Amino acid sequence: MGRLVNSSFAAFDYRTKFGSRWFPSPIFTASGCAGSGKELAQFFALEELGAVVTKSIAIKARSGRPTPRMAETPSGMLNSIGLQGPGIDQFLEVDIPWLASHGARTIVSISGESVEEYASLSRRLRGVSSISGIEVNISCPNVENRGLVFACDPVASKEVVQAVRRNLGGEFPIIVKLSPDVTDIVEIARTVVEAGADGLALINTVLGMVIDIDTHRPKLAGKTGGLSGPAIRPIAVRAIYQVHAALPKVPILGMGGVMSGRDALELVFAGASGISIGTATFGNPAAVMKVKSELATLLKERGFNSFLDAVGVAHER
Ligand SMILES: Cc1cc2nc3c(=O)[nH]c(=O)nc-3n(C[C@H](O)[C@H](O)[C@H](O)COP(=O)(O)O)c2cc1C
Repeated sequence: MGRLVNSSFAAFDYRTKFGSRWFPSPIFTASGCAGSGKELAQFFALEELGAVVTKSIAIKARSGRPTPRMAETPSGMLNSIGLQGPGIDQFLEVDIPWLASHGARTIVSISGESVEEYASLSRRLRGVSSISGIEVNISCPNVENRGLVFACDPVASKEVVQAVRRNLGGEFPIIVKLSPDVTDIVEIARTVVEAGADGLALINTVLGMVIDIDTHRPKLAGKTGGLSGPAIRPIAVRAIYQVHAALPKVPILGMGGVMSGRDALELVFAGASGISIGTATFGNPAAVMKVKSELATLLKERGFNSFLDAVGVAHER
């Protein structure tokens, strides 16, 4: 009996691939929703994840945006936390060795306010052997262009990705995270792939606002914030589907409102080669493990022997 169970597990190949790197599971954390993994390590072994995707790291330590910076919405949350974090020096000294010592594969998310900041972060990460990839968060305001978000500007997006590629070398996969707040996400996706991205992360939060009807003012001190959770899942499915249709060979790390294996399967069928879980983690720190086992069960029930065989099947006629 034991042998039978083992052989049925061995028959299912749950691995996925971004660039030249294989990951043993397609379930990742989402940047900003699990810090650098320390809190989650109390609930499960981090090596169970495809990788921990860290909170976006900047050159210098930052305290984020003013409070209040969280608001509830009917099926998601609005946040304006901003880029709160220790800065690259402390991150390299403390967080990266901690993650490595706990057996975690790590994808480092980076964010900058200028092309030079992305370049400089990439130089610092070059040759850090314990990391498995870089996620480039380009949903940040470009101080050199009136605060226009990089991800909404094809020219600036291209410059950032070229700078990251040049300064990082070819050692790690570069996954570029796009914003859904654009007219044509396929255009931005094509641009960053031509500039050297090995993969794409879709989607970042959707810009929203909540008004407090008692104070007559926006609830968030920053006025607008990023909407995440189940409310944005259909936007994620649409963005992943459109980009996979245009660029079927480019692996996509899909995210946006995944709370269960069923939700993850929808993104996989749309074209995601990996799934990041963000908001669900705030309600259940072990949500990533729940999604991991539910998704495997659903795939096996549908006769898939390999996770990668299921990627993009919604496109087949
Ligand atoms: C509180 C919070 C902080 C976030 N911080 C970051 C961040 O630092 N960098 C980033 O690229 N995305 C950040 N995100 C976006 C998530 O990584 C993810 O793209 C988005 O929330 C959609 O996934 P979800 O619905 O599963 O949360 C953040 C989201 C939340 C809710």
